[in-house]
Amino acid sequence: MTTASKNKQVNSPANQNGLPPFSLKDAPSLIEQVLPVQKLSIESYKEKMSSHAQVLVSLGGYWKGRKPLVLNKACILGCLLPASQDAIKDLEIFELLMGMDDVTMASRLVASKKLGLGESLPKQSYRQHVADAKRPEEIGDQLFDPIWPRVNAHIGTTASSFPELVEQLGVARFGHRPVVADTFCGSGQIPFEAARLGCDVVASDLNPAACMLTWGAMHIVGGNSKARRELLAEQHRIAEEVREIIDELGVESAEFDGKAWRGKTYLYCLEARCPASGWLVPLLTTRQVSKGRMAIADLVPDAKSKRYDIVIREDVSAREFTNAKQGTVIGEALVHSVDAVEYRTAIKTLRGDFRTEDGNASNRLRQWEVHDFKPRSDDLYQERLFAVQWQEDRQGRGDYTFRTVTQDDLLREQVVQDYVGKHLVEWQSKGWLPEMRIEPGDETTRLYRERGWTHWHHLFNPRQLLLGGLTLQRAGAAVATILNQALNYNSKLSMWNRHNGGGGVVQNTFSNQALNTLFDHGCRSSSTWFAILNKPHKSAKIRANSVRIKCESADSVVGPFDLCITDPPYGDAVKYEEILEFFIAWHRKTRHPEFASWVWDSRRALAIHGEDDGFRNGMVASYRNAAAQMPDNGLQVIMFTHQSTGIWSDMANIVWACGLQVTAVWYVATETDSALRQGDNVKGTNLLVVRKRREEQKTNRDDLAWELEEEVKRQVETLTGLNQQARGLYRNENLFEDADLQMAGYAAALRVLTQYEIIDGKRMSEEACRPRSKGEKTAVDSLIDFAVEVANRCLIPQGISESHWRELSPIERFYLKMIGMEAGGVSKLDNYQNFAKAFKVSDFRSVMQSAKANSSRLKSSEEFKRNDMSEGSPLHNTPLRAILYAMMELGKDLDTDDVLAHLAMNVPNYYAQGTRDLIVALCQYLGTVLESIRPDEASQARVLAQSVRNQRL
Ligand SMILES: C[S@@+](CC[C@H](N)C(=O)[O-])C[C@H]1O[C@@H](n2cnc3c(N)ncnc32)[C@H](O)[C@@H]1O
Repeated sequence: MTTASKNKQVNSPANQNGLPPFSLKDAPSLIEQVLPVQKLSIESYKEKMSSHAQVLVSLGGYWKGRKPLVLNKACILGCLLPASQDAIKDLEIFELLMGMDDVTMASRLVASKKLGLGESLPKQSYRQHVADAKRPEEIGDQLFDPIWPRVNAHIGTTASSFPELVEQLGVARFGHRPVVADTFCGSGQIPFEAARLGCDVVASDLNPAACMLTWGAMHIVGGNSKARRELLAEQHRIAEEVREIIDELGVESAEFDGKAWRGKTYLYCLEARCPASGWLVPLLTTRQVSKGRMAIADLVPDAKSKRYDIVIREDVSAREFTNAKQGTVIGEALVHSVDAVEYRTAIKTLRGDFRTEDGNASNRLRQWEVHDFKPRSDDLYQERLFAVQWQEDRQGRGDYTFRTVTQDDLLREQVVQDYVGKHLVEWQSKGWLPEMRIEPGDETTRLYRERGWTHWHHLFNPRQLLLGGLTLQRAGAAVATILNQALNYNSKLSMWNRHNGGGGVVQNTFSNQALNTLFDHGCRSSSTWFAILNKPHKSAKIRANSVRIKCESADSVVGPFDLCITDPPYGDAVKYEEILEFFIAWHRKTRHPEFASWVWDSRRALAIHGEDDGFRNGMVASYRNAAAQMPDNGLQVIMFTHQSTGIWSDMANIVWACGLQVTAVWYVATETDSALRQGDNVKGTNLLVVRKRREEQKTNRDDLAWELEEEVKRQVETLTGLNQQARGLYRNENLFEDADLQMAGYAAALRVLTQYEIIDGKRMSEEACRPRSKGEKTAVDSLIDFAVEVANRCLIPQGISESHWRELSPIERFYLKMIGMEAGGVSKLDNYQNFAKAFKVSDFRSVMQSAKANSSRLKSSEEFKRNDMSEGSPLHNTPLRAILYAMMELGKDLDTDDVLAHLAMNVPNYYAQGTRDLIVALCQYLGTVLESIRPDEASQARVLAQSVRNQRL
């Protein structure tokens, strides 16, 4: 890999018999016409779920918002591949390239030993296939060996590998090997995949800690075998040297029970003086120490010195262990008893919380100074070592034991503190230990408030500083990059998980992407520290000729590039710009040549976040710049998780303001249950495909309304049609589900809208930049609303006529639509959320029996309660509610005449012919869709339909 771009116009040998340069210059891309989103969702989900098998995770488990590589590959190939007249064939070829076709799937199942060689693919759902199969990237290039003749025959290429294909398509579109940019690269998932496919790459991020991860992806995971060998040797050398110093200091070794031992984990807690009793009390959230060793901590009162000895006992009975669950911190209070008198002090009282005259929160905690690395003796909070986990110091697996802290241990602590104290200032000045101030912020202010920590090294205890400093002063760029992973597992915010990993395990700081302070924490010794640092990384071949990693704001990155695939920080819950300072603080002064040109500051002020005007302006500047770096036929994919309906008009405005236009939108379910999910708010990823707007077209609202309606309908019908064709051909599943069709509706709306520069005489690129007041509904908002309505109109469940559909209230439509989808196997909450948003139903949960992420469902007729009939309920007075009630009564064997009499009472205007027709239609619909999930209810619905139809009036 070289840093200078070798990208020039070429007529490469690979192209001599393939596609001529620029022959696809103006061809629409496959991703603008089709994308197998259902399969892609399943593959993305599988990648996310196999967390440890993810290629780049070992570099930084703390980075949670990784976009799946399989999705990135789909975007890159989807942009490069042309869309032909034959969409089904295009899809077939695309699936071959993604390893999603039946033949390749069989090979994937063979590779996972779930299928014998030569056996045919079992008849089961794609989801089940993927669950059983290996992921294509786990198998490698040979998986794709058989596909090239078919791929070439369809596209006209002569490729026999991805780099060849990518180069030929790049030459045919842009005249050279394509350059893919990601100007918000984060952990580097998008540029890594681009480089692996053989594209040249420009990756940039405002945050140097993100750039480090991207650098690591290319140079550690993507490093050649020589570089990897050298790195391993460097890691071993550093581990050896540090161990020698630790041994010389003797701070991790001890002898007892006739054996030599080495410290494995050190457990610390805070200690504070109880103001009421005057006792010094350890702050322990639990007295349990290790489930695996059944170890607990006994607090033994020492009345004379008004403090507690902490005695560790192993192999206690199950009962004793359970009794030790409660520590001295209960809820938000410190609790202990002396002579049968309980003392309870609120933590905020302990800290002395108060409001300053200007109304700000403050307290009596001393604010630590730059050269502090442990509490001073008169600080409110002291830090105390309360247990040590020892490991037998011999080759092979020895014993483990948790022990009470001894005088010798305290002497060893003193040696560590003296050593760190002696070197701190020098190491800080040389950049081997952090000395960076913590700026106040949403995540960081609590560090001041809850502990008095003002500099980043205050988040590490002396042992952690010792290991960090000794390692960093010996590390090159690669080890420094991996060091972040070790720091993540070794700070005062690393929780001690006493229930896991045999004896227990020290968890990572960023387990929930926040900087939460702890009362007690675990600290790894050098052996477990180096176990993390030396963990082998997966290896992947980078085929790019040029990879440029820049630490720049997206609005000033310099290209040129042909494709730009980004995952910007839209309304991001994770405050990357704050929490990554935890790492920046360690590296900002070391100046490895590889990182020397980066700005070692999170530049919080430049970071894009939120959803207001600041966010919009930042996005506009970034995407305007990206467009300026690209040729006229360049393509962008903007990824964002769908959160609010407002996003669609935000996106339309951003696209407009940048002189771009939307050509497609896709929705892929990417997030897993565990990642970043708050409550039950499941996220998927929208892919917005955009190009430069080349002409200045004008229109007016009236014409636009027609056009929108036509386009939305056309789009939904095309996809429904593709579903049917594909079913007829070789599949037993839908290509697109309702949620995809709905997104296609949005896409169509954005496509129509953003092709115009001037609407009703207004220049939209200027209109889009106009500041908005909170809650203001702009012309764009109402156009989008209109488009959504049109899209929804196209999504009428089969079996209900358009005229009946129009008579229903939003919540009825929601219920009927979703019951149809449930019958089709849908149970993910995000589907319900999507349709609730689309149908403008705010209180959809009132009709849900379960709103769990992956097992949501509506209430059955029996599960509705009486108060769902009453005025407070959104279904109140609706025909649907009356029908469900009648079905419930039929289920209880009530006389049909009584049921009909109640129905007549419960439905306004029952005796009008139109009303009864509607009731019959809805009952018939329920009778059909419920058959596969609740046959009894289906039969009640059919009986009711029949009874209403035959009713004598
Ligand atoms: C959602 S993350 C990208 C995640 C990435 N796609 C991945 O898979 O890891 C957004 C990134 O945008 C970066 N960012 C925020 N403001 C920026 C700006 N003005 N210029 C460049 N990058 C910025 C953040 O540092 C963060 O790394």
